[in-house]
Amino acid sequence: MGHAPWWQRGIVYQVYPRSFQDSDVDGVGDLKGILRRVDYFGWLGVDAVWLSPIYPSPMADFGYDVADYRGIEPVFGTLDDFSELVAALHGRGLKLILDLVPNHTSDRHPWFVASRSGWSDPKRDWYIWRDAAPDGGPPNNWLSTFGGSAWEWDAATGQYYYHAFAREQPDLNWRNPAVRRAVYDAMRFWLDRGVDGFRVDVMWHLLKDPAWRDNPPNPAYDGSQPEFQRLLEVNTTDQPDVHEIVAEMRALIDEYDDRVLIGEIYLPIERLVAYYGRDLAGAHLPFNFQLILTAWDAGRIAGLVERYEAALPAGAWPNWVLGNHDKPRIASRVGPAQARVAAMLLLTLRGTPTLYYGDEIGMRDVPIPPGMVHDPWEKNEPGMGFGRDPQRTPMQWDASALAGFTTGTPWLPLADDRAACNVEVLSNDAGSILALYRQLIELRRTSPALSLGTYRTVAAEGGVFAYERRYDGASMLVALNFGDQPDRRIELPPGDRPGRVLASTHGDRQGETVAGALTLRPDEGVIVSLTG
Ligand code: GLC
Ligand code: MG
Repeated sequence: MGHAPWWQRGIVYQVYPRSFQDSDVDGVGDLKGILRRVDYFGWLGVDAVWLSPIYPSPMADFGYDVADYRGIEPVFGTLDDFSELVAALHGRGLKLILDLVPNHTSDRHPWFVASRSGWSDPKRDWYIWRDAAPDGGPPNNWLSTFGGSAWEWDAATGQYYYHAFAREQPDLNWRNPAVRRAVYDAMRFWLDRGVDGFRVDVMWHLLKDPAWRDNPPNPAYDGSQPEFQRLLEVNTTDQPDVHEIVAEMRALIDEYDDRVLIGEIYLPIERLVAYYGRDLAGAHLPFNFQLILTAWDAGRIAGLVERYEAALPAGAWPNWVLGNHDKPRIASRVGPAQARVAAMLLLTLRGTPTLYYGDEIGMRDVPIPPGMVHDPWEKNEPGMGFGRDPQRTPMQWDASALAGFTTGTPWLPLADDRAACNVEVLSNDAGSILALYRQLIELRRTSPALSLGTYRTVAAEGGVFAYERRYDGASMLVALNFGDQPDRRIELPPGDRPGRVLASTHGDRQGETVAGALTLRPDEGVIVSLTG
């Protein structure tokens, strides 16, 4: 157990800095706020904190439009605040992971300002500039993730530039070695300041087809999906040579001790696992979002886990993500009862779990009135449900009017249920989802079988997903009822000793002895130690 690196043993917790804790009454969370809550991470039991971007930014995409890779956005604080936060986390044995956004910058980044200043500027080729099509339109049919063409006309220099996201986020030209060097230098800047690794934004987007071919139509498009899904992104993402760049980033990370490289990659499993790299020289953890994307059904999830386990290259370490700042919250997707089952699933699967802030208190998506919309995606394609503000609302710390998040005006509305759904109230309730999260995290931390053990699916009847985790003679059975059917039975694997219940999502049954078979109640998940 001692030999596994922290990013295999540990649990990652994502903080969306704008919404965690405000310290200066401007209604926006900040670094000093996170510093004030630093004991919470240890109390909860997580090992690493990943911060969404804190760099200077005009906030066209809330920090994912970076105007300086080596600074701190004033709304979040200063480099001194940052150093204090690093020291406070490290002092508690916690790691800090930064978001790195290398695919694009803000259109206000000095690099882009120079690039668009004229054809002869040395940084012209740092971005992706193309001539108009013969009819004056965009060079090809590529679409922006946030809707509309991905090409923006620049009248002053008479060319289009490419932006995979908002027009304020021009894509860097990663085929230019000077761009690579500049971003790698920025990575060193933070690694030298003690950062324990990066979550690399849209890693699978970094290179585009050098022949600029059109993307083909998506035959499965039916009008309910975002506009960019009208096309298959075969020429704009997941290019074969992207793996060279990932390997370069990894080599840089490896110059430092014990750091981690995580990639944000939305691809089917078979293509996702290629990002571990040849001989595992790529990302340590290509983020696996399949739990977010798969229908909440025992059979479907069991099939998913088996496919993922089978697809992993030899020696690759798995990981699972249950929520993030881009996707509807788990408690809204599956309801409060199944959100507990989801917690047990996430924290007992083989692979590093990543937990999104607030999910541990069962926070739900908050409806955003049209006048309060911030997210550029919602503004571009309104009313379709693509907006991401609902899952980015302020953390609910206590039962006070503004939930302890701020004493100013919060940048996004607080949830209506905050008087009951908050850290203070739930930490005093032994039956709460927060208590369950803490119990599961503690179990995972103290059980090598749950953190590092092997995985094997166990046969179960309809609606139940069951599996066994084993390590060095210790064995744990996890059985999850994905529905509200009562009396679901699972035969225990044969053994000489009766099993002992360690946890139930219903908060009772701890210490119960089970022999022969286990019966689950509606919406119940149970962990049974099969070895005493
Ligand atoms: C990633 C981020 C998302 C952002 C996009 C563009 O998907 O998670 O929030 O909008 O990249 O940077
Ligand atoms: Mg603030």
